[in-house]
Amino acid sequence: MKPVHIEFILNRKPVSADIPADMTALAVIREEAGLTGTKEGCGVGECGACTIEVDGKAVNACLMLGAQLDGTDVLTVEGLAPEPEGSRPGPLHRIQEAFLDNHGVQCGFCTPGILMSTHALLNETPSPDDHQIKKAIAGNICRCTGYQQIFSSVKAACTPEDREGEAV
Ligand code: FES
Ligand code: FES
Repeated sequence: MKPVHIEFILNRKPVSADIPADMTALAVIREEAGLTGTKEGCGVGECGACTIEVDGKAVNACLMLGAQLDGTDVLTVEGLAPEPEGSRPGPLHRIQEAFLDNHGVQCGFCTPGILMSTHALLNETPSPDDHQIKKAIAGNICRCTGYQQIFSSVKAACTPEDREGEAV
């Protein structure tokens, strides 16, 4: 099969690759770009573990062809926190802090996808209500936490007074 050439922005940096035409966006992110924070759970659009942000919207990367990434702006969990300065790790993103503070992580397999769904929600709705939060993370399945801690984490991340002066 003839390879497809793609060029896109990945976590604020330009990347290009020649990929098989049937390669998924998830495989491009994990195997070509080596960013394994984005997880593969079901592989068929059911679990949300593979959620990335494409042009500001949450997308299941397992359902998207890699060729469709061409010309897009992609954010994965690795790009959520600001770039570190120097060799030391930089600060976490506000959403990541909220998950730590509210015990929203157990095994963590679902967490990258939920963080990205939350980030995409805040892109579109800076102060979401409970219904909007539940809708935004409805496609993210967690086997560990029972969802209450996850909901509390997302709600804390979405609380405007906590986020004063911060860029999403
Ligand atoms: S791996 Fe993509 S939705 Fe489950
Ligand atoms: S924390 Fe384990 S699947 Fe969600």
